[in-house]
Order: sequence, then C-alpha cells, then structure tokens
Amino acid sequence: MTDTLTPVAELAIDDARKEMEDLAEKLVNHRYLYHTLDEPKISDAEFDRLERRYFELEAAFPQLATEDSPSKRVGAKPSPDFAPVTHAVPMLSLENAFSREELEEWLNRNLKSLGLAPGATVAMSSELKLDGVSLSLRYVDRKLVSAATRGDGTTGEDVTANAQVIAGIPKTIPADAPYILEVRGEVVMPRKTFNDLNASGAAGRTFANPRNAAAGSLRQKDASKTAKRGLVFLPHGIGEIDGDLPGHWSQITDQLKTWGFGRDIGFDETVTWTTNGTVDEIMKAYDTALVHRPDLPFDIDGVVVKFDAIEAREELGAVSRTPRWGIAQKFPAERADTRLEAIEIQIGRTGRITPVGRLQPVTVGGVVVSNVTLHNEDHIAGLDLREGDLVTIQRAGDVIPQIVGLSSANTGHDERPAFSFPASCTACGSGIVRAEGEADAYCEGSLHCPAQVHERLVHIAGRDALDIDGLGDKIIGELISEGLLSEPADIFSLGEHRGTIMAKEGWGPTSVDKLIGAIDAARQTTVDRAFYSLGIRHFGRSATKTIAREWGSVPEILERIRNLQVSRNAVYARELGLGQTSDKASAAALKFLAEAVAIPDIGPVVLRNVLDFFDDTDNAQRAKRFFSQLEIEILQKVEVSQSPVTGKTVVFTGSLETMSRDEAKAQAERLGAKVSGSISKKTDILVAGPGAGSKLKKAQDIGTIEILDEAGWHTLVGQ
Ligand code: IVH
Repeated sequence: MTDTLTPVAELAIDDARKEMEDLAEKLVNHRYLYHTLDEPKISDAEFDRLERRYFELEAAFPQLATEDSPSKRVGAKPSPDFAPVTHAVPMLSLENAFSREELEEWLNRNLKSLGLAPGATVAMSSELKLDGVSLSLRYVDRKLVSAATRGDGTTGEDVTANAQVIAGIPKTIPADAPYILEVRGEVVMPRKTFNDLNASGAAGRTFANPRNAAAGSLRQKDASKTAKRGLVFLPHGIGEIDGDLPGHWSQITDQLKTWGFGRDIGFDETVTWTTNGTVDEIMKAYDTALVHRPDLPFDIDGVVVKFDAIEAREELGAVSRTPRWGIAQKFPAERADTRLEAIEIQIGRTGRITPVGRLQPVTVGGVVVSNVTLHNEDHIAGLDLREGDLVTIQRAGDVIPQIVGLSSANTGHDERPAFSFPASCTACGSGIVRAEGEADAYCEGSLHCPAQVHERLVHIAGRDALDIDGLGDKIIGELISEGLLSEPADIFSLGEHRGTIMAKEGWGPTSVDKLIGAIDAARQTTVDRAFYSLGIRHFGRSATKTIAREWGSVPEILERIRNLQVSRNAVYARELGLGQTSDKASAAALKFLAEAVAIPDIGPVVLRNVLDFFDDTDNAQRAKRFFSQLEIEILQKVEVSQSPVTGKTVVFTGSLETMSRDEAKAQAERLGAKVSGSISKKTDILVAGPGAGSKLKKAQDIGTIEILDEAGWHTLVGQ
C-alpha cells in the first residue's frame, strides 16, 4: 500500500478525512481481531503501516482528530467472557522507531525536555521486546489479588485464576516488598512449547505463532487448561506502588527477580543492555539483539529502549497512549530460503480456490514452516513461482509466513514450466470461475461439491437463513461423515435418525427432541430466507429480500431465472457472432440483463452468480428438493408512499433503540428516501442515536444537514 499513497502534504482535507475514517475503522477492526479474538488477519508489519499512516495524517490534520481516535487508544475492548478490571494506572503502549534517524529524533527530543544537549550521556537500558501478551499483576499486602490483561489500556480482563498457574508469577512476595505493588510483564510461550503444542493437536486448533498461542492459552475460561500450556511470565514494568522501590529500572528488575518474578528459560531472559544513552551504543545493543534473535527460546519483535532513572521518566511523562520515556525499535521480518516443492490447490468451505505452496521444511524465527498460502492465481504469477524454485520466505511475529519472492540463489527457473491454474475443481470436477476484477476463483459446484457441503449446511442452519437452533458446526460435520447428511433436503429427514444422534457425546433425549422440533419449525419460512439459504455468492440478505418482494413466490422467481438464462444465452451468442471474445460477450449479456431487470441492488454480479448457480443442474435439483421441504410465505411488495422524506438522502448512525438498522432502512425506503452509509454534502438528514461519533461531527461541520435523534425521526415521518 505504501507505493500508491498520496504524500500527506499533498492531500486535500476532504481526502484526508475520508482516508482517516477508513483507517480508523480498519484499525479498530484489526485491533479487535488481534487482541480480543487472537485471530489476526493481517501481519504485524502491515498493521504498523496502517497505524503509522493514520498517525501521520492526524499530525498533519489535527482538526480531524476525533474523541475516539486510534491515537488515543491501545489494544481493544476486553472480551465479555471475562470480568472487567479497571487498571489503577493505565496500561500504555509504546511508540515505534523503525530507523536510526527516528531513534535519534526521539532521544534528542527527550534530552531537550530534560534540559540536556543532544548527544548527552544518560543511563538508559535496551531490553528485548518480548512478543507475547501483556499482563498486570496486583499484590496487596504481598498477596496476588488480581491479574488482568491490558484490554483497551483502561479496562482489562480478569485472568487471576489463570495467572496462578503460570511460571514466573509468585502468589505471595516477601515482607520487604511494597504494600501495594503492580508488576507488569509479558506472558510468552517458548518456541519449543509452541511447536510441540501445535504438533500434538492438544489445543484443538493450530496457532499461527507463539504470541497467538500465548494469548489463547492465557485467556482460557478453565485455568487447568492454561496450566498445561507451558506459559512463562517475564516482567518489564511496574504499575501502582505504595511503598519503596529503588530509583533505577535496572535495580528494580534485579529486585523483582529476587522476589520470584520471571523464570530462567534457557537464555538470559532479562537480557538488558545498560547503555550511556548515545545513539551509537543504543544501535549496538539493537544489533546484538538482532544477532541473537534466531537462537532465543522465545519470539521477540524488537528492542525496547528505556530511560533508566525513574525520576527522569516521571519528568518526561506520557502522551495519550504512550510514555515518552520508552520506545520500541522494531525488527524487520525474519527470512530464510527454501525449496518450493509443489503448488497444490485447496478448495475452501465456501468453494474458494486457494493455492498452497508445499515447502521443504525450514526454520524461520524459531518456527518450522512447511506450508505457505499462495493466495490466488495473480500472486503466483506476480512472483513467477514455479514448482522446484528456491524461494525466500519471511515471518515477522506474523500471522502467516509468506513467500517474498524467488531467492537470489535460485537457478534453473527458466527450464521449469510456469504454473498453470486448474480449470476444474479437484474435489468435484465442476468448473472453476474467476469473475472479472476479482482476485479469487471459486468452484461452481456449490451444493454438490464435497468440499463445500459442510459450510453450506452450516449456513442454512444459521440465524439469517433457516435459524435451526442446535444444528451446529460439530453435529453437521459428524452427520456428514456418517452419510446422514449430504444435501440441504436431508436436514428434514434427521427425525428418522433420532437414535443415532442421541448416541452421540453431549446429546440426550431432550436435546434431540429439541433439535427435531427446531427443524420442523424451520420449515415455515419466507421466500427470501429460502433463497438466502442456498448460499449463492453475492445473493445476500438484502438482494434476496429485494427479489422476493419484486418477483413473488418461489415458482415465479424460478420462472424468471429460466427466462433470464434464455436471454443471457441469446445475447451471448449474438455478441460472439459480432466477433466479441467470450469474456466480453458474457459481460455484455449480463449488462443487458441487469438493465432489463432494472431493480436497484440486482446488478450483473448478482445475476451472474444466481444464473451460474441454476445453470448447474445438480445445484438446481438440490435447490428444488430443498424448497419442496419448506412451507414458504411470500413477502409483500413494498409500495413506496409519499412522505416528508421522499427523495431525501438519509444516514443512520449510533445505536437505534426502537428499531434495528435494517428496519430503519426499510422504513426510510418505504417512505421514498434513499439511505446512505456515509455523510456527504448530498446528505439531507442524519438520524443520530447514542454513541454517534465521526458521522455526527462531519454532519455538524457541513452545517446544512438536518440532524435528528430517533424520536425526532419518528415525529418527522409520523410513524
Ligand atoms: S515496557 C508503556 N518492555 O510491548 C508500556 N514492554 O508495544 C511499556 N513489551 O504493552 C512497556 N517487551 O506489552 C516493555 N521489554 C519490554 C517489553 C514490552 C514487550 C510489550 C508490552 C507493551 C508492548 C508495547
């Protein structure tokens, strides 16, 4: 992304605002995935890039900073699975330095605040930046009374029971310790423990890296599970204290060790380089850490540089989410060369085709890597990867290892054949389609592809489809492998297998009867839910509803689809006759159909997916058998009425109390308004519920937008 970004100095304020809103939303989402779910979707390096860009924009346009700016927050909201703990002293984050220059700038800024000249010598420490989960331990009267994760920095999650079973956390501390003492540090999982855990399958899932494994293992509801995961606590700071501690951080760490904090795990885990605070010495410590990195028993992702004297720290203080006295020097990703032995194709549960690289196993950053995702066809072509090539892979405390490209030592590339992407699904033999402008390819087999059947059935049982309580992922998987479920209509015969289900672990007469009752009740459904159940890509909740309202019953809709198939073929043939390529002819046919259909929301992409689905006779038959089990109610066509909001553009934001977002949208549309997701000069009305944030501010800034609360909206529309 860095290559295509407009330099901040050249951005117009409106573009900056838009970019900041997008980035803020992404950052909140990725922080949640990382901190709350332990399932990050992007690499740490990519996250750092997004965050950095946001900070740059905010520095250049301070007037755009919002109350809830990502620059004012750390981590993510604590998970509701744990009791909340309010930190006596907030748990902050650290600013990053990615270069010598950035380090020097930070250093000189701080020296200046302390009244010292650039280059002055001052006691400083450089410590390994441990890649784990931060934890705050609170001791009152020398007893461990609470252990909390960082959460959003203000409120963390109560994991006291789990902390009791982690090495390096004493339950009581000696009498010479302060009356109140908060010790903060990192919970890490040693690399070996991590590799063993994944290999044994004992966790019931595979963790992407030791940090995720540490987070997942710490945040268990059952502490006896945490106890089995080999976690280690290593201290790196203090929170609230009532009592005396030495005046320098280096002395405090020695003291903490004597009280039982931390563990020796085969390397001097408290590696701290005390420096005189010059850039040269700090960089030397950083280089030494980098050299030792591959031999360490645990993951590190950088070095933390800290002012050693507590007095200096207090004088420097903190900005909103980071202390001024410390900075993280982040490491680049670790890399290694290995052989790409084969490229294989995997069919995902949704039919998405993912090529996977099988590698000669290689250790990168202490973790053995033998598979790597190759994402899609373009990714392989872009790197020109061929089976047998020597490739460079990298891992940076990252979500997933990745291939950076061909190794500079690769030979024989030109003699190897280029990789050709398969044309048919390796699981069911159906065609593979990749739509224009999309990166991913999909198997067309849908309801009859064995790789997809599980996901399709889970989808049908889901809340927005037939909403069958009790028919979850696990039981569906078991029934498929026993041959009792192979297509949607089979769900309605499960009543015949009462005994088989009851014999399963976790099932008994009551739960089976409940399930069978829920299946029976699910037969009563509506046209939109029936079509939504089929799981056709892009034919989502809103599109299925629109079609159901416009076209009526299931037979009527199927009839329309048949007519569209005929028209599509005719236009396609005509275009081919005019000398068009197959792709162009197909696109022209869909464009023609979309114009003929003339329903907003039902464009060429939806039509293509719906028609492709029903073009496949296996799918069409399965859909028909499924529909025949249902009692389907028709949706009423929406008559748009004249109202005070007819023709107006309305935005809803914040939380609504008397109606859901979907209901609000439907009501506004019934009244002839257009509902939009974002504020612009074209917006006429903003309905702002409690918690409204940047949209409300933007509407106020524009000044011409009518701003209503929910009650005001109801008064205006008279309903
Ligand atoms: S000092 C204000 N020292 O890195 C927080 N933090 O990116 C100062 N971390 O939240 C913490 N190793 O969880 C410190 N040697 C170390 C560390 C370290 C890892 C974590 C810590 C912090 C995060 C910031």
